[in-house]
Amino acid sequence: MWKKILGFGASKEEQDLVSLYDKVPEDRRPRHVAIIMDGNGRWAEGQGLIRTAGHAQGVKTLERIMETCVDLHIEVLTVYAFSTENWKRPRPEVDFLMNLFSEYLDKKIQKMDDNHVRLRFLGREDGMSEALLQKMHAAVDRLAGNDGMVFNIAANYGGQDEILRAAQTLAARAKAGEIAPEDIDEDVFESVLDTAGDPPVDLVIRTSGDLRLSNFLLWQAAYAEFWFTQTNWPDFTPEEFVDALVDFAHRKRRFGGLDKKK
Ligand code: IPE
Ligand code: IPE
Ligand code: MG
Repeated sequence: MWKKILGFGASKEEQDLVSLYDKVPEDRRPRHVAIIMDGNGRWAEGQGLIRTAGHAQGVKTLERIMETCVDLHIEVLTVYAFSTENWKRPRPEVDFLMNLFSEYLDKKIQKMDDNHVRLRFLGREDGMSEALLQKMHAAVDRLAGNDGMVFNIAANYGGQDEILRAAQTLAARAKAGEIAPEDIDEDVFESVLDTAGDPPVDLVIRTSGDLRLSNFLLWQAAYAEFWFTQTNWPDFTPEEFVDALVDFAHRKRRFGGLDKKK
């Protein structure tokens, strides 16, 4: 991947971003970045286009940011693509989004593989078509042996739903006598979440100006830093992404304790 950045095909801007980020000390870099990709509809409206054109454009942004994360050696990138609440949208918009996922997997799987990315989906499966589920499983299986960045796509995902599913799994285990209720601690609980094995979220980015979590990663973001921008997702750039990372590097994280003495 560094070859790609430093060699053929790497633009001046990309090289600049990598060398800028190189200056950030390792222990000030987020391991897990989560993005609420919001504002596709508003972007489209601003261009005089229909909402779905914003989603199509948003996919292009996702591609660029995913590659930027690979180039910057981010360990885990989680993106919010479709919430458990997004089923409330008009059917044609929901269908368009489902088709976009399917196309994205067809078109981008090779590139993800070339970048050594491991893919995972967070969320529930019911409601998705059999054909899409098959494609999702095949993509996850194909990339499972990679050792690069973990790329989580939250699709049909809700933080409350995830926590309830985890509670049900543990309750069933307790009922079957496999685990004692008092043994359910943070580690056990995390092991049955969709993000099992990932480090906690360090940084949540939300585009498009709304200041809320919208049911995203409620457990995992317990101590995350937040970074908001007015920019709509289709206009979000790798440069602005690195701005967020550099801002994160300057945050004082106390985790309930006190500042470290210099
Ligand atoms: C985010 O953009 C994408 C999804 C929720 C799928 P929106 O579609 O929410 O765009 P706005 O918020 O209406 O502008
Ligand atoms: C959050 O955006 C979900 C995704 C980005 C997929 P929404 O646009 O659905 O959130 P609300 O409805 O404004 O809270
Ligand atoms: Mg929105």
